Amino acid sequence: MQEKIQKYLEEVRSFAISGATELEEFRLKYLGRKGILPELFNSFKDVPNDRKRETGLLLNDLKNKVEEKINALKSSLVDPAETKHEALDLTRPVDHLQAGSRHPLSIVRNQIIDIFSRIGFTVMEDREIEDDWHNFTALNFPEEHPARDMQDTFFIEKHPDIALRTHTSSVQIRSMEKFKPPIRMIFPGRVFRNEVISARAHCIFHQVEGLYVDKNVSFADLKQTLLYFGKEMFGDKTEIRLRPSYFPFTEPSGELDVSCNICGGAGCNICKYTGWVEILGCGMVDPAVLENCHIDSSIYTGFAFGMGIERTTMLKYQIRDLRLFFENDLRFLKQFRSAI
Ligand code: PHE
Repeated sequence: MQEKIQKYLEEVRSFAISGATELEEFRLKYLGRKGILPELFNSFKDVPNDRKRETGLLLNDLKNKVEEKINALKSSLVDPAETKHEALDLTRPVDHLQAGSRHPLSIVRNQIIDIFSRIGFTVMEDREIEDDWHNFTALNFPEEHPARDMQDTFFIEKHPDIALRTHTSSVQIRSMEKFKPPIRMIFPGRVFRNEVISARAHCIFHQVEGLYVDKNVSFADLKQTLLYFGKEMFGDKTEIRLRPSYFPFTEPSGELDVSCNICGGAGCNICKYTGWVEILGCGMVDPAVLENCHIDSSIYTGFAFGMGIERTTMLKYQIRDLRLFFENDLRFLKQFRSAI
C-alpha cells in the first residue's frame, strides 16, 4: 500500500492542466465518492498493525497534497482581470442603504406595553368604529353628557348609534364582557375626536388604557402601579402628582401629572407654564360599570387608567408640536431608533 501511495504522490506532484475540465477530472479521480483517496482510506483497516502509523502518515500526506494541488490550480485558472486589485478604490464612499425606523409613536406604544407586561398586563385590541353602548352608555355616560355631543364625536352619517370611538375605554367594556375577573389588561389603539388641530391636539390620536379587576383591588394598587409606570417611562428623577378629577366611569377619579421635562419645570408652552404635564386619567372603576358588564360589584373592584401616546412621546423626546407625528417628514422620523 505504501508503494501505491508513493506512486500517487508522484503523479500528483507532476500533474499539470490546461483547463477547468481536466482539473475537475483530477478532483473526481482522487476525491470523488469512488475515488482513489476514499478507496485508500477504506482499505486502511487491512494494513497490519505495525505498519499502520507509517501508512497513515503517508496517506494523510497524499490527501493534503491533492487538496493543495487542486486549490493551487484553481486559483491559476481565475481570470487575471478579476484579480486586478488596483481597480478597486477603497476610499470610495459606500452606498448607504436607507434602512427604515419605527415611528416614534410606535416606539413609545411598545415601551408602554413592555412596562405593563412586566407586571402581568396582557394586551387587547378592538374595533375603531363603535356603538353607543361600548363607547358611552356602558361607561356610565348620562344621556345628556356633553362628550356625546356632535362637537366631540364623529358619528357615522345617519346613524346616531355608531361613532368613531372617542377613547379606548370601549375596549375595557369589551374585555369585561368577554372575560371573567381577574382581568389585568392594557388596550392600545387609535381614537378620534372632533377637535381643532393645534400643537397640543389632533382629531386622530392614540391611547393606551389599562384595567385591573379582581377581589380587593384598591386605590393604593392604582397609585403604586402608576408610580412604577412613571419611573420606568420617564426615569427616577421624574416627579409625579395625582389630582382629583372626574370621569363618568370611575369613582373616585384622578389625573396623573408628571413634571415637564421639556422646560425642566420652569414653564413652557407645552406645560402651559405650569411645570406639569397631564399624561393620564385614572380612577376606581364605578360599580355601575362593573354591573353593566355582569361583574358582581359586591365581590370585585377595579382600577382603570388611560393615557395619550402623543403626549407621552412629546414629553419623552421633548417634541413641541404634536402635528409632526402626522406629517411623515423623513427628517423628523429618521431621528428615532429603538430596539423595540
Ligand atoms: N377614557 C378617558 C379619556 O379618554 C381616560 C380614562 C381612562 C380615565 C380610564 C379614567 C380611567 O380621557
